[in-house]
Amino acid sequence: MTVGGWNVSSSSIAIQSENYRFLQEQVYSHTGIVLEDDKQYLFECRLAPIVSQLGLGSINDLCALLRESREAEVGCQVVEAMTTNETYFFRDPAHYDAIRSVLLPRLKQERRDTRKLRFWSAAASTGQEAYSLSMALLEEGLSDWNIQILATDISSRVLDRARGACFQQIEVNRGLPAALLVKYFNRSGLVWQLSEAVRRLVHFEKLDLRQSMAALGPFDLVFCRNVMIYFDAETKQKILKELHVTLSSGGWLMLGGSETAFDIEEWFERQTIGNAIVYVAR
Ligand SMILES: C[S@@+](CC[C@H](N)C(=O)[O-])C[C@H]1O[C@@H](n2cnc3c(N)ncnc32)[C@H](O)[C@@H]1O
Repeated sequence: MTVGGWNVSSSSIAIQSENYRFLQEQVYSHTGIVLEDDKQYLFECRLAPIVSQLGLGSINDLCALLRESREAEVGCQVVEAMTTNETYFFRDPAHYDAIRSVLLPRLKQERRDTRKLRFWSAAASTGQEAYSLSMALLEEGLSDWNIQILATDISSRVLDRARGACFQQIEVNRGLPAALLVKYFNRSGLVWQLSEAVRRLVHFEKLDLRQSMAALGPFDLVFCRNVMIYFDAETKQKILKELHVTLSSGGWLMLGGSETAFDIEEWFERQTIGNAIVYVAR
């Protein structure tokens, strides 16, 4: 079988149960991501390129290497390979509609003196979420405001890509209106690079959502979308509490379209705006 361009013999990558548990623990302790007992196929697909690159025979050999030599760099590669980085421009359009129709008109009024706004894309992956927000803000005529968009992720690999702001044709075909592609991207060979006007609003940093975040705020809006689904209930609750601390009073938290938060009434009021669910910080 071919995985990520590497030729891999599927018979060479069956994972022994103690190694499966070892990998689950590695991923959990480094990211908080819970990978259930039925994710054998996911480990095989995602780790096959690393096994092949290192000239090893199987994932079991990879586990032996990690256990024996405590190879920090390989350990990091393994953990990062197990993060799911799926993202695209203007994902969950109802969120952007709510931002345009309710949040920005309010903020424009409230901040007309300071003209300063702060946003956070808290599991930014390759940057489409933060850059979509940047384009949406520019489209709303805020180019002469002081705008900061912090974009963070636990994976250095995706952050490196995000900083480059170069996207393949298939990536700009997903969710991005043609008018914005023409207006904000420059084509360079096979890739599309975002213009400086969009990029300069966004700053990328590596950050684990399980660490203390209070010092990052205050933000007017936090996107924490399509990442909580990978955490257990305890981690999720701890993160939601921390996110609340980073928001200004009345600031918005947006979760992924299929994600719901429970037992958060103390910190947030849940509001429906059009087709979007918004968690408003108390
Ligand atoms: C599916 S992507 C979501 C991207 C974007 N928010 C969206 O909705 O399109 C999830 C991202 O969460 C990141 N992630 C996983 N665990 C994390 C953690 N503990 N701290 C910060 N980021 C994490 C992954 O590296 C991945 O890039």
